[in-house]
Amino acid sequence: MSSSNTVYRASTTAPVNIAVIKYWGKRDTALNLPTNSSLSVTLSQKSLRTHTTASCSESFSGPDTLILNGEKEDIQSSKRTQACLKHLRSLRQELESKDASLPKLSKWTLRLVSANNFPTAAGLASSAAGFAALVRAIADLYELPQSPKELSLIARQGSGSACRSLMGGYVAWRAGTNEDGSDSLAEEVAPLSHWPEMRALILIVSAEKKGVPSTAGMQTTVETSTLAPARFKEIVPQRMQEIEKAIKERDFETFARITMQDSNSFHAICLDSWPPIHYLNDVSRAAMNAVETANRKAGKLICAYTFDAGPNAVIYYLAEHAHQVAGVFRNILPQVPGWEGEFGGSIRPNEYGGLEQ
Ligand code: DP6
Repeated sequence: MSSSNTVYRASTTAPVNIAVIKYWGKRDTALNLPTNSSLSVTLSQKSLRTHTTASCSESFSGPDTLILNGEKEDIQSSKRTQACLKHLRSLRQELESKDASLPKLSKWTLRLVSANNFPTAAGLASSAAGFAALVRAIADLYELPQSPKELSLIARQGSGSACRSLMGGYVAWRAGTNEDGSDSLAEEVAPLSHWPEMRALILIVSAEKKGVPSTAGMQTTVETSTLAPARFKEIVPQRMQEIEKAIKERDFETFARITMQDSNSFHAICLDSWPPIHYLNDVSRAAMNAVETANRKAGKLICAYTFDAGPNAVIYYLAEHAHQVAGVFRNILPQVPGWEGEFGGSIRPNEYGGLEQ
């Protein structure tokens, strides 16, 4: 029997994803709707993941709380976190209104505890895994029937890129056209098992926090870049089609070319913004040079670079070329630490087996 002291709890983990077609620009800042579709690869949870536990109880009092990496976060003033919690509570409420025997979890205080297994200071995007784990953990706590695709719509409101971390393998975030955002969600393009030879190497060029945060940076780009409209309307839609085909056909050379072109196009619209936004530094450019050197030596594209809103490089390559790629990097950038990440599966199911009775 449950009593008012019963604590209901669910835990989950979520992976990091690295986009090969970048999301950079919002058409609606409140709903977090993007100006273009994007596509990412989910990294292994062995290397990078967020672990989140959500609990609630009738005996908990006060506002909802979140402890992130041991420190209390102010979630009351975070509109994005509030949007996610509100949406998840309303879905739970629907269940409770249909079945009177269900405990009224939707009414109770939530306590969230979240931690990354990688240094937050490493400058790697952690908001994607963070919001994906938060949404998944609460959805498990509330025993919601929604699919990862449906939950991606909620995670998107926390952080755009988070919607792609609810699935494993190769994931597209469809920009959608509906004004209410109901068709702006993530879907799997191919599972990890479709192309298991794919590898990623993350080079930590700088562990410092990035200069311009992505949310502010992308608004500056949308408002001021003269190159951005062509990227949003023509370039990205065409590239989405091409790269999805390349993934389906396991065509690494096309995948690599488009990945590098899209990273460069994203950094070009950043530089074209006013005031200009610089994310790459000399070490980033040395990493690009290493990729070009490895490809020139091989006589074909065996690796590709991509950079997010910071100087750290992610290098994609196939397992069969690992030694060739690593050799060039060790020569050109011996001082830059990196680690190899295997590509990850989707979020693991609730490790603790659902609600505690
Ligand atoms: C460069 O998802 O962090 O990594 O929606 O404002 O939280 P918000 O932005 P965020 O932006 C990620 C930008 C990017 C490209 C990408 O991951 O697609």
